[in-house]
Amino acid sequence: MNTPLKNDRLLRALRRQATDTTPIWLMRQAGRYLPEYRAIRERAGSFMALAKNPHYACEVSLQPLVRFDLDAAILFSDILTLPDAMGLELFFTPGEGPQFARPLRKASDITALSVPDMDAELRYVMDAVQLIRRELNERVPLIGFAGSPWTLACYMIEGRSSHDFASALALCRNEPTLAHHLLEILASSVSHYLSAQAAAGAQALMIFDTWGGLLPQTAFDEFSLRYLRQILATLTSDRHARELPLILFAKGANWHLSKLATSGCTALGVDWTITLAQARHATANRVALQGNLDPAVMRAPPHIIRSQARSVLDSYGKHPGHIFNLGHGITPDVNPEHVAVLIDEVHRYGHTLRETWIESSQDFSP
Ligand code: CP3
Repeated sequence: MNTPLKNDRLLRALRRQATDTTPIWLMRQAGRYLPEYRAIRERAGSFMALAKNPHYACEVSLQPLVRFDLDAAILFSDILTLPDAMGLELFFTPGEGPQFARPLRKASDITALSVPDMDAELRYVMDAVQLIRRELNERVPLIGFAGSPWTLACYMIEGRSSHDFASALALCRNEPTLAHHLLEILASSVSHYLSAQAAAGAQALMIFDTWGGLLPQTAFDEFSLRYLRQILATLTSDRHARELPLILFAKGANWHLSKLATSGCTALGVDWTITLAQARHATANRVALQGNLDPAVMRAPPHIIRSQARSVLDSYGKHPGHIFNLGHGITPDVNPEHVAVLIDEVHRYGHTLRETWIESSQDFSP
């Protein structure tokens, strides 16, 4: 049953083992910059109809792999399907981003929440994971994912996208007990959700703390990191998830990288506001690093994309443990040909870098 992966660069790099070149995948690699994505979304009628149909979700996950030499697939879904399953009812209106029909408006909305049943409410996600694994046929590993409790709480309280998520921050400030009650339920839900994805066949897991950087410096540990640690501790003893590498991405939270590196994760995602050399220093080589090309570079001419990709690779240096990615999701205005250019340069230059690696770096230890 368990045939070996044909391309295991991602899993090896996550374990900080040597690879023939640097693996690359892109956040939002299945998305609106691809005309074939826009076509299938049109056919499905809405984002939710697409995400809730495992056959569509499978096709969309595989679309970027048909075009590009990527080293991983990511489940096509959204972090907000979990609160949808908790009864908040997610919908998207064009140009508006995500919205909830029943956001958390009063204390009783929060106390009424419970962990959703993965086999019932989120069956479609697990079915998609199984289908994608089957269709991938061990070509590359499949990444499953969830939002962090804090980032999910931001959307659940605000009810929609926001620049500052002021209501979520106000809840933490003014009613911390209620905020912790919500975050506890979310931490438990995320743990169950990731465990179910692992059981269904995900081969690596990722947690997105997109809004971790909004928390005041002194509140990050209390309202975000604490729950990330709780999830990681639960997954470490989980039958399905304990063997899987976990990537943690807390955008805008680079001040906290050294603490995040001791949270029990395998790798940290890094946004583009610091260099990978700085991130390596902050994390003291405790974890692998994923990132961190400025997503805006993808709009530049190909020769600039190539040179900027090389500087990201150079900044990480000649050591195992780098997974190339953007510092945030790819934007819908990117020319797909530019993605092919980026992947080509990362694989080409990543390979030449290794020709001068120190022999002893076979299995890197700091
Ligand atoms: O290819 C992949 O990366 C896998 C699929 C994926 C989506 N969303 C699909 C999607 C993943 C991993 C996500 C994560 C996600 N969703 C995050 C965390 C990562 C990040 O970007 O910070 C967040 C905050 C969300 C919530 C969300 N979903 C927003 C704010 C939006 C609207 C903004 C936008 O980019 O349109 C979405 C919609 C969404 N999720 C789209 C896709 C492909 C676009 C939907 C469409 O077709 O209109």
